[in-house]
Amino acid sequence: MAEEQRGDAIETFQAAGETFPPDAATVAAANAQAEIYARAAADPVAFWAAEARERLTWRKPFTKTLEWELPFARWFDDGELNVAENCVDRHVAAGRGEKVAFHWIGEPGDRRTITYAELLVEVQRTANALKGLGVTRGDRVAIYMPMVPEVAIAMLACARIGAAHSVVFSGFPASALADRINDAEAKVLITADGGYRKGSFFELKPIADEAMKSSPSITGSIVYRRRQPGTPGETAMQQGRDHWWQDLVPQQSTDCPAEAMPAEQLLFLLYTSGTTAKPKGIMHTSAGYLLGAALTHHAVFDIKPDDVYWCAADVGWITGHTYIVYGPLANGATQVMYEGTPDTPSWDRWWSIIEELKVNILYCAPTAIRAFMRQGEEHPRKHDLSSLRLLGSVGEPINPEAWLWYRSVIGGGRTPIVDTWWQTETGSIAISPLPGVTTTKPGSATFAMPGIAADVVDASGKSVPLGGGGFLTLTQPWPSMLRGIWGDPARFKETYWSRFPGSYFAGDGARRDEEGYFWLLGRVDDVMNVSAHRISTIEVESALVDHHNVAEAAVVGKNDPLTGQAIFAFVILKKGVEATDEFAHELRGHVAKQIGAIARPKFLLFVPDLPKTRSGKIMRRLLRDIAEGRALGDVTTLADGGVVDTIRSNTGAAEE
Ligand code: WTA
Repeated sequence: MAEEQRGDAIETFQAAGETFPPDAATVAAANAQAEIYARAAADPVAFWAAEARERLTWRKPFTKTLEWELPFARWFDDGELNVAENCVDRHVAAGRGEKVAFHWIGEPGDRRTITYAELLVEVQRTANALKGLGVTRGDRVAIYMPMVPEVAIAMLACARIGAAHSVVFSGFPASALADRINDAEAKVLITADGGYRKGSFFELKPIADEAMKSSPSITGSIVYRRRQPGTPGETAMQQGRDHWWQDLVPQQSTDCPAEAMPAEQLLFLLYTSGTTAKPKGIMHTSAGYLLGAALTHHAVFDIKPDDVYWCAADVGWITGHTYIVYGPLANGATQVMYEGTPDTPSWDRWWSIIEELKVNILYCAPTAIRAFMRQGEEHPRKHDLSSLRLLGSVGEPINPEAWLWYRSVIGGGRTPIVDTWWQTETGSIAISPLPGVTTTKPGSATFAMPGIAADVVDASGKSVPLGGGGFLTLTQPWPSMLRGIWGDPARFKETYWSRFPGSYFAGDGARRDEEGYFWLLGRVDDVMNVSAHRISTIEVESALVDHHNVAEAAVVGKNDPLTGQAIFAFVILKKGVEATDEFAHELRGHVAKQIGAIARPKFLLFVPDLPKTRSGKIMRRLLRDIAEGRALGDVTTLADGGVVDTIRSNTGAAEE
């Protein structure tokens, strides 16, 4: 494992200066007050038990809070609840059925408003449709959809009947979808004919069809029709297997009582890249996950009953699961869901939505903020953004420059910014400011959340004193923690719990300053972070060597002003194959086809050889130095010193 810190991030750390204490009005009105830290620290398990009783509606109260057989945790194990009931029914039962759950905006401009009462009807119908297709408690259902409200309805319908969903990002190709379906042995696929993105309709069903050809576990599929009248094209349906959502769901009974589920019932799998080529099916269960989602959404986003909240993530990632579906719905929030991209039809699309719907809270990734910065202030300036009260950031380190721009240009110099560090594995936010409590520093995610214990340790696992850097660990179990990797408990132990015995190893580097603020420094393993998406270097390497003309490949992340990191591939061709721009283009396309457009290498360099140690291990650290144009680090273990010079003399032509 490559464990060196990224030098540029440390410079970012040193550059930060100004601090931002919360203003008096925010302090006075904030959901979470300073006492929450002391309460949690005094007895974390009792804290979680009290929060679980307060925030969740139980069918059967739990008596045991935590059973911890490292690394396997069971939270609230003898309790029972239904996650969908917590997210929908209880709000309707409390008389809030007419409250809007989703203001949905399609990219072409079509709109829908869905209340909690309507959501309840749709979730029950969809749950009955799933039952009709033979889905029962414990089954897995794959979901491959664009950003339409039905994606949330589908997830909640699964939760209602105790089936686990596995949402697959709609930008993934057929092979990635098939791999995920097969690993989970999903019984049903819920998909769509397509969706609108960057001004045109993209077809999803043909990709789903290709995936289903090699997914023998699938016995039925539901296809949501998104194509609008006037958009050309037709969707092929396979008789007996495929059902249009619009035909199947509306005819179902609107009565599907929520069944009580064990607290540890599997709620979903979400696949994420690790340090090998095979994505990991991260397992989250019901009560603990929902508690983490609900509590953090309440405390970090300071959600109030009349707020309009907008998380601009895609539901295909954990941010969409926790902060579009489960957290906000558990809290009965009103949200915006937008189908398309921020630049369509023009770069002020988000700002016009915020002005129109008077959005109070916006949550997005630094990569989007940097893209907006690049487009210029004139776009947000065209709109009244004074409804915004709070801004959030997630997915990658936010550089202080972007943080300050976000606050001044989007937040009018008023809004607190919550830079939230967490992972697919943590389930919910683990390190973040609390808006009414924390004095923020641009670029720092500040402190561990109440009830979460984070540390920075050196290579031997020893806690590093304040002012120093090392590896980020979480030292105590928490309710929304992953419960395992689907089908692979050994890998679960090895990946997260073996590097620092007794602690969860996040795979991130971090520093703490003299005041104990956390500064995240990026991944320290072979995972890249491109536009806030995790991509494994080894996954891209396998896709490259999968091409019959490629002999060997090595991939590293290169710092990128827009996307955080960009993929830099070094490729050795087979004898006799010519290193042309055309072939480089073809190879990029090959990677995109294998693992998705987000994994398309930005830089691709044909090299005669790769720098290796005498034992034959590729020295990625040197490749990173080359990619960054940095002075080379230690080369004493290099088998052939000439290799590096040859590669360096060629780096100019790599970008497409
Ligand atoms: C990175 C996304 C710095 C980190 C929620 C982590 C961040 C990985 C931040 C998880 C942040 C996420 N500051 N880095 N505020 N948030 N990361 O699983 O490297 O898609 O390990 O979850 O994103 O990515 P994932």
